[in-house]
Amino acid sequence: MLRRYHPGMDRGTPTAGARQDPGRGDGSATIVAGRPMPAFGRIGVEPISGACGCEITGVDLTRPIAPETLAEIMLAFEHFLVIVFRRQALTPDQHRDFSRRFGELTELPQAPTYDGHRDMQEVRREAHETKNVVPSFEHFHTDSAFLERPPLCVVMRALDAPRYGGDTAFSNAYLIYEDLSDGLKNLLDQLQVVYSGKDIWAKNQKLDPDKRLRLRESHNLTEQELENIHPAVRCHPRTGRKALYVNKAYFKHFVGWNPDESLALLEYVQSLAQRLHYHCRVKWRRDTLLVWDNRFLLHRGIHDFMGERRHLVRTTVIGERPVGPKRS
Ligand SMILES: [Fe+2]
Repeated sequence: MLRRYHPGMDRGTPTAGARQDPGRGDGSATIVAGRPMPAFGRIGVEPISGACGCEITGVDLTRPIAPETLAEIMLAFEHFLVIVFRRQALTPDQHRDFSRRFGELTELPQAPTYDGHRDMQEVRREAHETKNVVPSFEHFHTDSAFLERPPLCVVMRALDAPRYGGDTAFSNAYLIYEDLSDGLKNLLDQLQVVYSGKDIWAKNQKLDPDKRLRLRESHNLTEQELENIHPAVRCHPRTGRKALYVNKAYFKHFVGWNPDESLALLEYVQSLAQRLHYHCRVKWRRDTLLVWDNRFLLHRGIHDFMGERRHLVRTTVIGERPVGPKRS
């Protein structure tokens, strides 16, 4: 018997390699993030919502991490897609070291760097700034889908957080896909998307100076490297679990579809990400550290803070080239 059921189909296989959480002691499993919750023995894990996200306790990231503890952190990351640690006062080197547990770090062509660290980016809004001034979309998106190998994850820490507001919200793209009809799944399974970052700078230059985003001034990518074609449905490279991989950020069109057709389908699938039962939301405090999956989870900042400073620093871990469903 299941302890909690999330509306949707195709669920019930535990995260690969995981022992199952014993649930309430009556043999029932806790279903969270669409799958039975794994058991954790070395770290504390508290789900944030039924859809995604957990808070992890019992870990000090400034100290060496035992392999068994790291394995559980990775398991929590795979299952919940966004993991939250509180009170982690890391130096930039410690931040980078922990990030490398997830993979190789990458620079981003468009995001401003942090304090001379080429492989760290910052999201900063000063208290006197009333508008979003960094390339941080106010709709659900994944970062930098225009790259050949978009980021696997983002490791972000708050140096300064507003007293109220400025949360980051997440939407689980596995669950979005799994709730689609078979008809729409079959259509999307065959589709590819052109994502392009070629016009980020030109578009910004056309804005009034006070409305321009704070972009990185130079990068070493060619025009060609700023545009790529990716599958509309993305598969986890090991488990094969499928997720929707379509969102507005840098979207140009579906391959073989005209702009009107592309926009109509884009608007529909983008609207699905808004549904609250796919979400969790994280409140930042100073020294909160998040790792979120940038492949199977959408995110957005919420710019509802006025007169408050918000300063987040991040590293970005490079991902695999997106893998689509096998064509039959
Ligand atoms: Fe983003």
